[in-house]
Amino acid sequence: MPARPDEPRIEEATEDASVAPHSPADFEARLRQQVILSEFGVEALRGKDFNLLLQRATELCAEGMRAEYCKALEYLRGEDTLLVRAGVGWKPEVIGHATVGADLASPAGFALKTGRPVISNHLADETRFRTPQLMADHGIRRAINVLIENRDGAFGVLEVDDSREGKFDEADIAFMQGFANLLGSAIERHRTEELLRASLARQDLLAREMSHRVKNSLAIVASLLTLQARSAEGEPAVLAALQDARSRVEAIATVHDQLWRQGDLAEKDGAGEAVPGEIDLAPFLDKLVLNLASGAPTHRLTCAADPQKLSADLAIPIGLLINELVTNALKYAYPLARFPSGGEIRVRAERKNATLVVEVADDGIGLPEGFEIGRSSKSLGTRVIASLVRQLGGTLTLPPKEHGAQFHLAVPLEKGIG
Ligand SMILES: Nc1ncnc2c1ncn2[C@@H]1O[C@H](COP(=O)(O)OP(=O)(O)O)[C@@H](O)[C@H]1O
Ligand SMILES: [Mg+2]
Repeated sequence: MPARPDEPRIEEATEDASVAPHSPADFEARLRQQVILSEFGVEALRGKDFNLLLQRATELCAEGMRAEYCKALEYLRGEDTLLVRAGVGWKPEVIGHATVGADLASPAGFALKTGRPVISNHLADETRFRTPQLMADHGIRRAINVLIENRDGAFGVLEVDDSREGKFDEADIAFMQGFANLLGSAIERHRTEELLRASLARQDLLAREMSHRVKNSLAIVASLLTLQARSAEGEPAVLAALQDARSRVEAIATVHDQLWRQGDLAEKDGAGEAVPGEIDLAPFLDKLVLNLASGAPTHRLTCAADPQKLSADLAIPIGLLINELVTNALKYAYPLARFPSGGEIRVRAERKNATLVVEVADDGIGLPEGFEIGRSSKSLGTRVIASLVRQLGGTLTLPPKEHGAQFHLAVPLEKGIG
């Protein structure tokens, strides 16, 4: 008789007197199944590895059913077939390779296509189904199949088989369906996480690509300013202004260089995920100071920074500030006549609770009388400094120092940057 999808397929359900619904043995078996269901529920929520999850599901399901065989079949839509993804009891070559027909004449195919649970307690006598070759090879006598589905649709079929005489009944279906539902949700969660991970990785890649381009564009701007400075050699004021502009552009480029490099490093070393838009302060300041030092070989620049993550929004003004202060120290702290062999300039960054403290100090001639940082200042550099401090919401103080100048910047760190 040809199978009809709307026909109920549960046969020989509970009439069998040997399995009275409320016998102590039956009660004990149901209780055990409940325990296993909740155990799997917890594992399904925690598990990270998809294959392990499927494998564990088949192990626990077989245990709950006290059955010899269990398998999780994945429906391969393109080939219209069911692949054994995980299982227990089967010969080793079966898992990951063997397939079962997904048509209505195979018990698993029927469960898949109709969504109904299927019990066959006498496969050999079946007129509804043919016995799949895989089952014949293992001497399977009886089988029970339920659909694994979730909001993405049907994933496949969960099947329990046995080569021994016996009966699967409706209570077994209830257990297996509960199990398959949990599994379906866990599969959905895995798929969603996978998609999310892939889209995060893509976003990170795009962000890094952007930083790389910004850095390259800024490098072009910097070299244009260098070219322009060369043509202004007869006019010292213009030359100085162009050089200052170039060094500010380079300070910003250094932030983008770090943004791009860090994501790249994290990917290559598997050293954890870099947060897009955040950089490590220490290598960034090292690079910045190294750049400034390369233009002033007679001076000694040192940099000491605590490990600290910083958003690009903070790193850019902080980098620009350090650039201004160090450039000033290079230009003014050590006049050649008094310091023919240059001097030391120290940059230090340290986190104190929720505050980032940055210090730039030298041992030179000290700041001129009446030096002040503010909007009304005559020189552009100090006006730039004042505006950057405001932008950071920080404070800049000048602790008294016997020789030389010292700048102390305190920047409140937002919560969440650690
Ligand atoms: N570390 C320092 N040591 C000595 N003098 C300094 C130092 N930093 C700044 N100054 C003085 O402060 C002045 C203002 O600096 P700034 O506003 O950056 O102007 P600019 O660098 O364009 O001359 C400088 O001209 C210099 O005289
Ligand atoms: Mg200056």
